[in-house]
Amino acid sequence: MKKRYYCKRLNETLNFDALKVFYCCATRTGPSIDIPSPKRVKDIIKKRNSLIRMLDEGKIPAECKDCFDLHEQENPKPLLISRFSKLPKANLIIVKHFKQCDCACIYCCEQYLSKRKIVLKSKKSDYYDLLPIIEELYRQDIIDKKELDVHFQGGNVSVLDEFEPLVDIFIKNGVKRVEIATNGIKYLPKIAQIAGKTFVDVNISIDSGCRETFKKIKTVDKFDDVIENLKKYVKLPILLRLKYILVRGVNDNIEELTKYIELMHEIGIKNSELMIDQCDSEFVSEGEFKIPDYYYDLFKFYKEKCAQYNIEANIWEYVKEILDKGSFFK
Ligand SMILES: C[S@@+](CC[C@H](N)C(=O)[O-])C[C@H]1O[C@@H](n2cnc3c(N)ncnc32)[C@H](O)[C@@H]1O
Ligand code: SF4
Ligand code: SF4
Repeated sequence: MKKRYYCKRLNETLNFDALKVFYCCATRTGPSIDIPSPKRVKDIIKKRNSLIRMLDEGKIPAECKDCFDLHEQENPKPLLISRFSKLPKANLIIVKHFKQCDCACIYCCEQYLSKRKIVLKSKKSDYYDLLPIIEELYRQDIIDKKELDVHFQGGNVSVLDEFEPLVDIFIKNGVKRVEIATNGIKYLPKIAQIAGKTFVDVNISIDSGCRETFKKIKTVDKFDDVIENLKKYVKLPILLRLKYILVRGVNDNIEELTKYIELMHEIGIKNSELMIDQCDSEFVSEGEFKIPDYYYDLFKFYKEKCAQYNIEANIWEYVKEILDKGSFFK
């Protein structure tokens, strides 16, 4: 019998990046469409529908070849019997169509587009306005209003002029969950406004436990501002998570990690994440990048110290796999 496929990510995601819209989170290799505009919304939808149909008919788009998210349909009958069959609506929107930021982290994956320029005042995205596109997607009934999860990434939303209007349109349409990744340097009053109206997940990348190390990593002297803002956010009915990326030679030591965990304890933050710097994997030219032995001690220490303070110590599945394997995947 002919094989048929599906991809959960493709069925769910619209990922607005600076130069393209991707149809999944795999921003390097996944299928995409070039620079969008409200006029092109029908092209965005058309391509999405044709990708879903292709898989359902057993054809694998070149960009999806060998992807571990590709699965065989168990149902032998095609789901999309005719070209009028209803296709799944998108329930995950990723907002990263802007790269401006009010700091310039030494590890940042997005810096090649922002060219390490620090932006202090809100401005338009250098690429395109997303608000009219979202309005059009709602008009075209492509967004699953009941189940929608929105992730703000970027750049940093604190210097995006469209941030508040975008949040407003999602809230108006009954968004289920809003996740905001931010450096925490500027207080975002919108978070307090929407707290309690929907599930709000705020993830703050601080990467340090003191002013000196913060400055080395973020390249701005704003540690104290972040602390003030964390003290306000912690009082809100939101999920507040603090994040630490291990940057080799800068914050990859027990002393700094201890300060970071004690800081969370002092402020009352109950959720944390420890991550490996992705740059370590991307700039390996030959062979594999081996995880240094002392990283295992750091991760062990992190789990134990967080447990002592009753803080949830999260480690991404993908990081766990890398640690188990002992090296970054090439
Ligand atoms: C590019 S940032 C944008 C959102 C926000 N400015 C922030 O820093 O949280 C999105 C996420 O990517 C993560 N990130 C950026 N560069 C990374 C790297 N080299 N390794 C691992 N994570 C990285 C950040 O920690 C953040 O959680
Ligand atoms: S199969 Fe992989 S590359 Fe293709 S849409 Fe799904 S996640 Fe993206
Ligand atoms: S705060 Fe976020 S967007 Fe800004 S430089 Fe750091 S990781 Fe990049």
